[in-house]
Amino acid sequence: MIENICCIGAGYVGGPTMAVIALKNPHIKVTVVDLNVQRIKDWNDSDLHKLPIYEPGLSEVVEKARGRNLFFSTDVDKAIDEAQMIFISVNTPTKTYGVGKGMAADLKYIELCARQIAMVSQTNKIIVEKSTLPVRTAETIQNILDNTGNGVSFQILSNPEFLAEGTAIADLESPDRILIGGNETPEGQMAIQSLVDIYSSWVPKDKIITTSLWSSELSKLTANAFLAQRISSINSLSELCEATGANIVEVSKAVGMDSRIGSKFIQASVGFGGSCFQKDILNLVYISKSLGLEEVASYWEQVIIMNNHQRTRFATNIIKTLYNTVSGKKIAFLGWAFKKDTNDTRESAAIYVADQLIEENANVSVYDPRVSEPQIRYDVKYLNSRSEEKNSKHLKVEPDPYKAFEDSHAIAVLTEWDEFRDYDWERIYKSMLKPAFVFDGRNILDSSKLKAIGFKIKSIGKV
Ligand code: NAD
Ligand code: UDX
Repeated sequence: MIENICCIGAGYVGGPTMAVIALKNPHIKVTVVDLNVQRIKDWNDSDLHKLPIYEPGLSEVVEKARGRNLFFSTDVDKAIDEAQMIFISVNTPTKTYGVGKGMAADLKYIELCARQIAMVSQTNKIIVEKSTLPVRTAETIQNILDNTGNGVSFQILSNPEFLAEGTAIADLESPDRILIGGNETPEGQMAIQSLVDIYSSWVPKDKIITTSLWSSELSKLTANAFLAQRISSINSLSELCEATGANIVEVSKAVGMDSRIGSKFIQASVGFGGSCFQKDILNLVYISKSLGLEEVASYWEQVIIMNNHQRTRFATNIIKTLYNTVSGKKIAFLGWAFKKDTNDTRESAAIYVADQLIEENANVSVYDPRVSEPQIRYDVKYLNSRSEEKNSKHLKVEPDPYKAFEDSHAIAVLTEWDEFRDYDWERIYKSMLKPAFVFDGRNILDSSKLKAIGFKIKSIGKV
């Protein structure tokens, strides 16, 4: 029976996942470790508002389990040494250099973990892939462990995480399914059972499915690819709606009511963001290309091409509508996070739209209820499109949304935060330059109400 777990990586997945595992299994000591000293300090902060990740319900779970059987530490070696089961939950970003640059997953952090586990371990351990990985990565990890270890034995499991940010705690508490892949040997099956036992503390048995390692690894990439494909499909049709007078909200409802299709993940938007979809599809494309499966690769690549197009199209529409020039014009951004209820901005459409507008010398003024100013500045800087001086001249961050609206030519909604619907739109209208434009990249505002006030509103997939 497992009594001691270590998780390497205290990020958006490692933190919330381990907090829930610890909450539901008070008899198991769970230690989450990270190289990032500040991140661990924040996880340990007595002020729960300072946790490094914003997720509804997370601070309550941390408050209950932290110090009882949930610990956050930078002492990676000690946690590895003491654990019977080690989750690897480090980042696996797209490679930015060398072979596979811009497509393949960068597995350097995974390899470092494997080498460290091998070096430190003096007892047999179960290693759980929690990070999203290319299919057959378990083979690589096993190879490193077996060739650099101290003669102890390792069982590898794949247990991909399906939580979505913003709903992580609810997703973890009632998952659609838990997927565990492992070896078909008796030792592999015993390892699988020990992880099944941990999840069984709160997940019904019929929702815990077990497969081979390769099926499990590939299922995670596949699930993300399918979800993203639905968004690109509906976004492609939003452009067709704008050209024909059809309404994407009506089309989406009519299509989604077919029980074979379903209504989730077909809301048109300024484009999907987040750390997973683009990275995982690019990885799928890369794997397919590497195997010579050109048609498979180009089929999935189109999902990314369409998403890039949707973001560019949104920014271009702002420029065109503002009489083909945004130079010197103030444009207020509502939202910067890649979706509501998270402070995560990775691959957020807002970054790319801002970059395109700044290139045209617009003055972008951003308000987001959860994202910090340094993060917003870092995101634009990271694209490396121009000098820092020009970025700082053309990008302002406002802690008060009403300040962002003052004397602006247009408002662009980039994230679907609930609070935006309830703003005093009469007051906003009065404070803006006329004509006052609103570009609703999330279709969340009441367009007839705004039109009645006097706004010129442009939504996605509606004329
Ligand atoms: P993240 O960047 O938030 O966290 C990863 C953490 O790992 C960082 O804090 C980093 O400092 C730490 N780390 C890296 N190398 C380390 C090492 N050698 N030793 C100790 N710590 C190390 O990433 P994330 O969003 O939590 O994603 C982690 C994995 O989970 C990725 O593979 C991702 O694809 C997958 N995933 C993410 C989500 C999501 O919603 N974010 C959902 C499902 C799966
Ligand atoms: C995704 C997967 O949903 C999750 O299962 C996986 O574990 C990690 O990747 P996440 O990226 O956190 O989760 O959020 P998600 O809710 O999937 O949203 C991704 C992006 O798609 C967001 O930018 C969101 O605004 C956008 N989206 C979502 C749409 O544009 N339309 C939709 O209908 C749904």
